[in-house]
Amino acid sequence: MKFYITTPLYYVNAEPHIGHTYTTVAADCLARFYRMKDYDVFFLTGTDEHGQKIYETAEKEGISPVELTDRVSSIFKEMWKKINISYDRFIRTTEKEHEEVVKKVFKKLLDKGELYKGEYKGFYCVHCESYVNVEEAKNPVCPDCNRPVKEISEPSYFFKLSLYQKQLEELIEKSDIVKPDFRKNEILNFIKKGLIDISVTRKNVVWGIESPTEEKYTIYVWFDALLNYLSGIGYLYDDQTFQKYWPPDVQLIGKDIMRFHYIVWPAIIFALNLPQPKKIFAHGWWISGKEKISKSKGNIISPEYYIKEYGVDPFRFFLLREVPFGLDGEFSEENFKKRYNSDLVNDFGNLLNRSLNLIEKKWNGFLPEDEIDESIINLSEEVYKKYSEKMENLSFSEGIEEIWKLMIYLNKYLDEKAPWREDNENAKKTMVSVFYGIRNLLILLRPFIPETCEKMAEMLGLERKEIDKFENLKVKYTGRIKIGKREIIFYRKK
Ligand code: ME8
Ligand code: MG
Repeated sequence: MKFYITTPLYYVNAEPHIGHTYTTVAADCLARFYRMKDYDVFFLTGTDEHGQKIYETAEKEGISPVELTDRVSSIFKEMWKKINISYDRFIRTTEKEHEEVVKKVFKKLLDKGELYKGEYKGFYCVHCESYVNVEEAKNPVCPDCNRPVKEISEPSYFFKLSLYQKQLEELIEKSDIVKPDFRKNEILNFIKKGLIDISVTRKNVVWGIESPTEEKYTIYVWFDALLNYLSGIGYLYDDQTFQKYWPPDVQLIGKDIMRFHYIVWPAIIFALNLPQPKKIFAHGWWISGKEKISKSKGNIISPEYYIKEYGVDPFRFFLLREVPFGLDGEFSEENFKKRYNSDLVNDFGNLLNRSLNLIEKKWNGFLPEDEIDESIINLSEEVYKKYSEKMENLSFSEGIEEIWKLMIYLNKYLDEKAPWREDNENAKKTMVSVFYGIRNLLILLRPFIPETCEKMAEMLGLERKEIDKFENLKVKYTGRIKIGKREIIFYRKK
């Protein structure tokens, strides 16, 4: 079984902030989850590097677009490395391979009569890189971002989006492409108001892919960028890879870019006669002080601080635990700290420390041998089943809640059985059972906090491959286990 997952390609006009990190961590978590289920996963992410916005940003900084895109795309890559993003490919829209695909697709659609030449008269929002519909006004602003828009009038090629009106309505009504479900109506209503053909070239923008037409244009940056989901897995140049992974199983986007992904993108796919993505999930926004966190609002929250102060995994954990995926959430350090102290320090860290200290003290660092309590075997299985369903629906926070049922049970079990008491005849059984439960927590939590789980496995004296696959949840260890070096992983924060 294969699993193809994508994130949006981020503009290189800003360095990665909480928002970009959010989508990417979610995608990473899901990619890891499916790998642990033994799927053949392809995880694509990257940067969106053409267009007027990037050109103007470079100009303002007094550098060339190439310098800007090289610099910022490396910063994205470094950030993803730092937070353990396990992508299979990082694509840049300025790569030759991608540019060739965009030109070929443009030519293909031109030859099929899906594109035609006309004149674009209207408004353009550089910030959104979007042709916008605004009421004639003295100082017209973008309906999405409220910034002043430019009036343009230029010859242009158009894509016959209007042709796909009915097909798109049907796709959205009958398939699972729009997720979560509550977004469906909004999109349908928009389509039902009537779709108009969209311009796919710019006449006076120099920083873009050249159109394969006699008279030269640059290709509209969104048309270029959306095609990364095809070029990223070899469309039109590596048929084997493309056939293996197409269509996408999950595409993650923020709710800011729904129209491009639920309307323009599927229409292009229809025009190319390809199967549609199975699921495009639009998540909510991280908000700070009532506003979307964004570079332009000046309320950026940088991942760096949280990584330094709390660690990579607590940061990953918070992003996916705190807010139901799909809804907006307020990002604050206060909430972060609460989550960190209660879930990671109290529940998880303490469980591990208590257990390891006991094994060290009472059995000289060797796990005793005994049978494992049925209740923990059964609960593990039950939790995995529900967790798995939640993960498949991208309900990350609910997935973690399922894991916590086992976490809470183990803490209580340990308290009640009190294996540290001298006269306790069941101490051995209690300890091997808790150990088994903790091992399972490491497997279940690994997609969220991989580094921590690997480190803890070492502390338990387990090999990494013992927590590699969900299949291992059922495996009972045999032989003598000597626990590893103990250390505190999560320190309480005041
Ligand atoms: O739109 N909360 O790129 P972009 C949650 N290049 N997620 C957020 C966020 C926030 N406050 N801010 C940003 C583009 N995001 C295009 C995409 S795809 C072919 C081209 C995340 O740099 C979220 O995933 O503006 C959103 O969709 C994306 O960053 C937009 O990134
Ligand atoms: Mg944006």
